[in-house]
Amino acid sequence: VTNGSQQAIDLLTRVLLAPGDTVAVEDPGYPLPRRAFGAHGCRVIGVPVDAEGLVVDAIPSRARLAYVTPSHQYPLGMAMSMGRRQALLAWANRVNGIIVEDDYDSEFRFGGRALEPLHSLDTSGRVLYVGSFSKVLMPTLRLGFLVAPTSLSAALRKAKHLADWHTAVATQGAVAHFIEDGLFAQHLRRMRRVYAERHHRVRSVLEAVAGDRLTALPSAGGLHLAVQLRGRGGTTDRALAEAAHRLGVAVLPLSRCYLSGAPRAGFLIGYGAIPTGNIEAGLRRLRRCL
Ligand SMILES: Cc1ncc(COP(=O)(O)O)c(C=O)c1O
Repeated sequence: VTNGSQQAIDLLTRVLLAPGDTVAVEDPGYPLPRRAFGAHGCRVIGVPVDAEGLVVDAIPSRARLAYVTPSHQYPLGMAMSMGRRQALLAWANRVNGIIVEDDYDSEFRFGGRALEPLHSLDTSGRVLYVGSFSKVLMPTLRLGFLVAPTSLSAALRKAKHLADWHTAVATQGAVAHFIEDGLFAQHLRRMRRVYAERHHRVRSVLEAVAGDRLTALPSAGGLHLAVQLRGRGGTTDRALAEAAHRLGVAVLPLSRCYLSGAPRAGFLIGYGAIPTGNIEAGLRRLRRCL
């Protein structure tokens, strides 16, 4: 049990990686883990993603660890295909590598069938599974977990002990009771409905008020939608996000998630914390910035 998935990443980095090691990350991808790998002195290489997820054939030959978000690629939103899951596991077996599976929001899937996590498909103990309560309950709890092969558990426990002894016991106890009393399952059922409604609302309002400038990318669920910007007229998505911020609308520029190559311009629109009834007004303000 860790202080969010970010601490799980930090601990596994300390245990498994040495400065100078090469780490493969999705490009675009979630910036915080790659910053943690980089701060440890690792060479972080971006690997492209396509509609099936990470392009496994493009993993650099020096890499021995790959960090991925297979159930809901961050930031673009697609799920990794079964073929790519198998290919990634085969890669890990071939190079004696490790896969870090960040499964941060798969509780909120609104359609289609969930694919098996890499961790369940793995038969050789090469997948470290990272989970978090940040999306499913709230990010300020700082509660996450790491499911690691038995061969690594002693070293990981030692690293956690050296870092901060343990995650707050009161928080763990409260969440454990919440789960045992059935309230967590109830919360999930309710929030699945609420988030699905917000997801569809963001899509339909966007299409109506900004369909000429913004295209929503296909997404399996989660708490954000990635949208691509068309015809920027020389303005960057960062400048547009700043302008939106001045109007009281927080969107993340998509280009921030790119490590290399030509970033796609666009935004991540989060709907975890906005009442459904405020979505239209927010998106209309975003439209004014465009
Ligand atoms: C890709 C991804 N992984 C993990 C997390 C959760 O991180 P943490 O558990 O450290 O809050 C998030 C939250 O935004 C995320 O977007």
